[in-house]
Amino acid sequence: METKKPEISGYEIIDEFGYGGMSKVYLAKQLSLNRNVAIKELLINRQEYEEEVRRLKKEGEILAKLNHKNIITVFDLIFIKDRPYLIEEYVDGITLREYMNRTNEIGKQDFVNIVKQIVNGIEAAHKNDIIHRDLKPENILISNDGVVKICDFGIASIKNKLSTQSIANMAGTWEYLAPELFEDTPIVCELNDVYSLGCIIYELLVNKKPIEINNDETIIGFIKKKLTKEIDLENNSPDWFKSYAKYFQKCLSRTVDQRKDAMDNLNKGISKIIKSELGDDISITNIKNTVSIISNQEKAYIKEKDDIVSEKIIKKSKAIKIIKSILIICAIIGSIFIVIVIANYIYQYIIEEEELIEKEKRLEFNFRTRIILKYS
Ligand SMILES: Nc1ncnc2c1ncn2[C@@H]1O[C@H](COP(=O)(O)OP(=O)(O)O)[C@@H](O)[C@H]1O
Ligand SMILES: [Mg+2]
Repeated sequence: METKKPEISGYEIIDEFGYGGMSKVYLAKQLSLNRNVAIKELLINRQEYEEEVRRLKKEGEILAKLNHKNIITVFDLIFIKDRPYLIEEYVDGITLREYMNRTNEIGKQDFVNIVKQIVNGIEAAHKNDIIHRDLKPENILISNDGVVKICDFGIASIKNKLSTQSIANMAGTWEYLAPELFEDTPIVCELNDVYSLGCIIYELLVNKKPIEINNDETIIGFIKKKLTKEIDLENNSPDWFKSYAKYFQKCLSRTVDQRKDAMDNLNKGISKIIKSELGDDISITNIKNTVSIISNQEKAYIKEKDDIVSEKIIKKSKAIKIIKSILIICAIIGSIFIVIVIANYIYQYIIEEEELIEKEKRLEFNFRTRIILKYS
C-alpha cells in the first residue's frame, strides 16, 4: 500500500506496519537516541478531529501513568501540522492474534507465560484505576524475547469517571465485550476486562472465540446469545487443562457478581498448573522460541514480498520514466509544430500585407503619373 509517510522532525520513518480500526502504526528511528520507536497516527476524519485528538491525548496520558513491563511504554505525544502522533516503545515481535493463527495447540508453558503476563499487565492497570475496555488478541503484543505487552489504550477509561454508557456509543470489539455492557444500563468496571481476558484464555485453549458473531445473525440475536449463553470452558478445552478449568471459568461468568473473585481464582489456577505440570519451571524460553521462529518466518515472507514489490516498483518507475520522456518529446514536437504553424501564418500575413502595400504604392504611382500627365 503506497501512502504518504509523515515527516516528523527527529524521527526517520522506516516502515508502515500496524493497522487497527482507528490508526496506523509506523516503525521509525528516533535519531537523537538511535533507537526504534513505534509511532501511532490516527486515521482522522475532519469532522471528528477534536474528538480523535482528545482520544489520542487521553491514551498518551493513561500510558504515561502506567509504568509496567507488560504494558507498552509511551515516550511522547507530538503535533505536526495539527496532527497528533503518539511515540511509543517499539515491540519487535508479533501480536497474540498472529501467535494464535500459527499455533494449533498451545503448550502448557506458553499458556502460563502468556496468560500470567497479560494478568500482570491488567492488574497493574486496574491498580491505577484504568479499565482497558478493548482487550483482544490484536491489542496484545509478544516480543521476540517472549515479553507480553498490552497496547491500545485508545478507549480505556479512568474508573469512576464513566459509569454508564449506551450501546450506541459502546466501543470495543463486541465478541470480547462483557455481557453487562449489553444490558439496558451497562455497567462499566474492571470486571469487563476480566471477561475479555476469559475470552482470550478460551480462544488460546479452544482455538475459537467463545461467542462468535455469525454472518447471518442480527445484532439482537448476538446480544441475546451474550446475555443467555453459558460458556463451557472445561468441556471444550484440551485434556491437560480440564482439571484446572474451574479456576478460569469464573472469568467468563455472565454477571458481574459471579465474576467478582475471578482474578484470585485465575491466579490460583496458574499457580496450580505451574506446580503440577511445569515443576515450577516457567522460564520464557518456549514462548520466546515460538515467537522468534514465527517472526523470522514472517520477516523472510515480508522480505520476499518486499523484493517482489520493489521489483514491481522498479519496473513501474522505469515504465513511468519512458512514458514521461515520450510525453516530453511529444510536447516539444507539438510545440515546434505549433510555432511553425503560427510563424507560417504570421509570415503569410506579412507577405500579404507587403503585397497590398506594394499594390497601393503602384496604384498611387499610376494615379500620380496620370494627374501629372493630365496637367502637364
Ligand atoms: N508499540 C508497538 N509496537 C509494535 N507494534 C505495535 C505497537 N503499537 C501498535 N502496534 C501494532 O499496530 C496495531 C494497531 O495499533 P493499535 O494501538 O491497536 O491501534 P487501533 O487503536 O487502531 O486498534 C496493533 O494491533 C499492533 O499490531
Ligand atoms: Mg487495536
